[in-house]
Amino acid sequence: MCGIVGAVLTEGSVLEGLLGGLRVLEYRGYDSAGVALGLEGGVSIRRKAGRIEKLEDDLRAVPLADSPIGIGHTRWATHGPPTDENAHPHTDNQRRLALVHNGIIENHSELRAELEAEGVTFSSGTDTEALAHLLGRELDRSAPSLAEALRRALRLVHGYYAVAAMRFGDEKELVCARQGPPICVGVTPEGSYLGSDVLALIPHTRDIVFLEDGDVCELAPGRMEVTRIDGSVVQRASHHVSWEEADAGKGVYPHYMLKEIHEQPDVLARTAFSRIDEARGDVNLGHDELGDGGWSDALLQSIDRVQVAACGTALHAGYIARYLIEGLARIPVDVDYASEFRYRDPVLAPNTLALAISQSGETADTLAAQRLAREKGCTPAAICNVAGSTLVRESDAVVLTNAGPEIGVASTKAFVAQVIAAYLLAVRLGRARGVIDRVQGLELVRELRLLRPSLERLLSEDHVAEIKAVAGRHLNAKGFMFLGRGINYPVALEGALKLKEISYMHAEGYPAGEMKHGPIALIEPGMSTVVVNSRGLVADKARSNVEQVRARGGQVICVGSDPESLALADEAIEVPRSSEWLSPVLNVIPLQLLSYEIARLRGCDIDKPRNLAKSVTVE
Ligand code: F6R
Repeated sequence: MCGIVGAVLTEGSVLEGLLGGLRVLEYRGYDSAGVALGLEGGVSIRRKAGRIEKLEDDLRAVPLADSPIGIGHTRWATHGPPTDENAHPHTDNQRRLALVHNGIIENHSELRAELEAEGVTFSSGTDTEALAHLLGRELDRSAPSLAEALRRALRLVHGYYAVAAMRFGDEKELVCARQGPPICVGVTPEGSYLGSDVLALIPHTRDIVFLEDGDVCELAPGRMEVTRIDGSVVQRASHHVSWEEADAGKGVYPHYMLKEIHEQPDVLARTAFSRIDEARGDVNLGHDELGDGGWSDALLQSIDRVQVAACGTALHAGYIARYLIEGLARIPVDVDYASEFRYRDPVLAPNTLALAISQSGETADTLAAQRLAREKGCTPAAICNVAGSTLVRESDAVVLTNAGPEIGVASTKAFVAQVIAAYLLAVRLGRARGVIDRVQGLELVRELRLLRPSLERLLSEDHVAEIKAVAGRHLNAKGFMFLGRGINYPVALEGALKLKEISYMHAEGYPAGEMKHGPIALIEPGMSTVVVNSRGLVADKARSNVEQVRARGGQVICVGSDPESLALADEAIEVPRSSEWLSPVLNVIPLQLLSYEIARLRGCDIDKPRNLAKSVTVE
């Protein structure tokens, strides 16, 4: 989704900082980029379809005059194709101000018709430009400040937006507002900064204010003021973010995705190890920044049902959470796509914990599902990676996953952290309700520690080389089927999603027991089937799938710790043994690497897969 940056400095030039911020936000996905700088009495705007490098080349060829105030944008086209004209920033007819926007202005056609009837000329096909002209109209109608012009304009707008605008008149004015997509701000004596996410701000400050829906924020070096759209002043607390600037880099890896795959042993440690309480055979779900995270014994004991809502990879973690919470804590769990849950008028039993799972904490459907569940009387809770995100702020209880920033569009380490967080939650629920005793609890938490060497083994050079070889042999498969059973069925779904996202190969994930109810018709020579099978309750069931696929001429890649399945398959990717509950954490690693290697060999743009955005903040 679009990226927004902005800054106003006491002195100096803002341009390099803006371009740096846009580069940091590249991972969100975009197809054009632009910047606007304030000049006394006006603005200068430069915008280009394509990558940020094109914009930078253009700025080098014809530089803009230095300015201490500016905004920048990476656009992901929605209204109007990705052309120079449609790229942001946009301005009013007198070029007094510049404006950038992420989201959708639903009544843009009506606004456009109204403004055109008043003599305004539009120069783009975007919904955003109407908002720039509305601001201009409010300034014509003598709004005393840009912030007031924005408040007045937003009262006329229906839709979802994060918006930033600036002008350099008598004063330097930088403003932003939020209704839906996130925007956050940071203030230092040298300058004030805004961005669509924390990563754009951490080069300047780690104390960050996340705007709420309906907020309008006015920024100046060393100060900020937040009002509601009606002009009433509100206070917003700042959150200290522990992420480092270096976390936003690729380190020694060619792609963010590969870096993040290799970070997973550390992610395990960060998500789990400091929470283990061996003496009590239990875990603490809290976090430095969140105290006990809201997980009081009273809450844990009062839950009769859990309703998980999430999207994509986070949903797959949610399916695993179902096996864990039902299996370990004996509480019934329902899991739904957040996008379906929000519109199906769900019937929710009393004492339901609404558990939203999200890396970003800003996914529009997940937030909407969570809000609906709260309205229906559920206790909203979250497993989330971003401390100050909307989801965290709107939840009564939170397990922070501590995976660090995830920049690769295809989620890897966030998934593993979500599964581990779900395991911790299941153990805590079981302990608080007396379903798991201290000795069992101790056994369960010790299993976590055993995972680290296994993860390291899976990421060793030899193991990666083995997967590269498998990738090379299946590069031109007609298609892929991923099968898994029990707690590894969602791992099969995740393997298929990873492969299609970054290699664009057709891949389907199924519960292994469903194969003979239809998907088996696809099996023929040239079709590759990945069977995820670890030792445990259903190992012999999934093993028969290996035989069925091979009997029909299909190629089987077996991933897991079940020796018989590995022996039967065409390709065996052995995964160290673990408890069955934690086997998804290990089994998903070869699937992530397999997708990565296939995509690399096929020459795909791994960190920026086509048509995908990292954070889906609109419907
Ligand atoms: C897949 C992927 C997406 C996200 C989904 C939810 O690799 O990244 O499927 O998992 O868009 O995003 P979050 O977790 O931020 O709510």
